[in-house]
Amino acid sequence: MPSGINRQWLLAQRPEELPDGLVGEHNFRWAESPIPSPADGQMLLRNLWFSFDPTQLLLMTYYDETNLESPGLPLGGVMRGLTVSQVIESRIPAFRPGDLVHGYSGWEDFSLSDGHGYFETTKVPPGIAPNVALGALGVTGMAAYFGVVEVGKPQPGETFVVSAAAGGVGSIAGQIAKILGARVIGIAGGKAKCAWLTDEAGFDGAIDHHTEDVGERLSALCPDGIDIYFDNVGGALLDQVLERLRSHGRIVLCGGTARYGQKVPPPGPSNYLALVMVNGRMEGLLARDYAARFPEGAAALLPWLRSGQLKSKEDVAVGLENAPKTLARLYTGASFGKQLLKVAEPAVISGT
Ligand SMILES: NC(=O)c1ccc[n+]([C@@H]2O[C@H](COP(=O)([O-])OP(=O)(O)OC[C@H]3O[C@@H](n4cnc5c(N)ncnc54)[C@H](OP(=O)(O)O)[C@@H]3O)[C@@H](O)[C@H]2O)c1
Repeated sequence: MPSGINRQWLLAQRPEELPDGLVGEHNFRWAESPIPSPADGQMLLRNLWFSFDPTQLLLMTYYDETNLESPGLPLGGVMRGLTVSQVIESRIPAFRPGDLVHGYSGWEDFSLSDGHGYFETTKVPPGIAPNVALGALGVTGMAAYFGVVEVGKPQPGETFVVSAAAGGVGSIAGQIAKILGARVIGIAGGKAKCAWLTDEAGFDGAIDHHTEDVGERLSALCPDGIDIYFDNVGGALLDQVLERLRSHGRIVLCGGTARYGQKVPPPGPSNYLALVMVNGRMEGLLARDYAARFPEGAAALLPWLRSGQLKSKEDVAVGLENAPKTLARLYTGASFGKQLLKVAEPAVISGT
């Protein structure tokens, strides 16, 4: 059992309205407390890597202890997110000291866990690096995989458009659709991201929403319309796509990063009736609902990753002290690929 200080980031202030100061260091308070001891049915984890997801902003906006599945976060509570951690001490038979585990944990060096949570704690399979377990083979990759194969269902030759295409989910979703034979167009912010999509990730086209008219470019790159739209951002882009949806088109609603920071919900998509005219379908995708099938998703993605057919783009920050700044990168568009933060190396634990 380690002794010493547990460094933590606590929620100090709920996020402000867009666009200024949306989220940053001012929302958190640094604290130091003793390392806790696990009770029966608990284990002590050392957190090694953090994953950052735009929905962490939503977690910061409310607290409802009666909502057992998703209670949000009280002011003064330790900020939370998906992590890869190492088991240091365990009073749960299924976990042993030294195990690397993937689960929902705190922005702190050490956390107590009972193995349950919004995502159940699972062991990282041998040979899978922590960054990959959080990125391409984590919830990020699983949202992309099941969103594409179960909801979007691209057929060879169909046109597939994805937003936040150079982000964690978007970059994997677009590449999977390409592997399955679709023509893939990505929408991303900035020249470097667009160049990566076409030059490295094999997309057929990219639209820079910072400098280009997205509607005009969609019409130019998808002259026959769009069969599948994998939506990570919501907002005005969704309306632009609805206008161009083909017969029996599908929209995979994966996320709405453009609206997470808005306290007053924006008006709904004004072009939704376009779905009637094309027999279209718009369907939500919740990766968590596929949790029992994550091993199947990982088994499909792993050979593509190993062969280099699927590129995993990661944006890695280092150091617990940088967690708030790293989260902020998601909402300014500074992040490029899956945003991660490395906190510590796994320790050598005697007897393992
Ligand atoms: N449904 C599920 O089960 C599930 C699971 C995981 C993630 N998600 C959702 O999927 C989406 C993508 O997640 P991710 O983890 O891969 O994040 P991500 O796309 O890597 O998020 C960061 C990127 O989002 C874009 N962005 C930020 N603010 C924006 C805005 N106001 N309007 C448009 N784009 C904006 C920026 O890219 P550009 O610079 O290119 O604009 C930024 O670099 C998120 O909405 C997330 O919540 C859903």
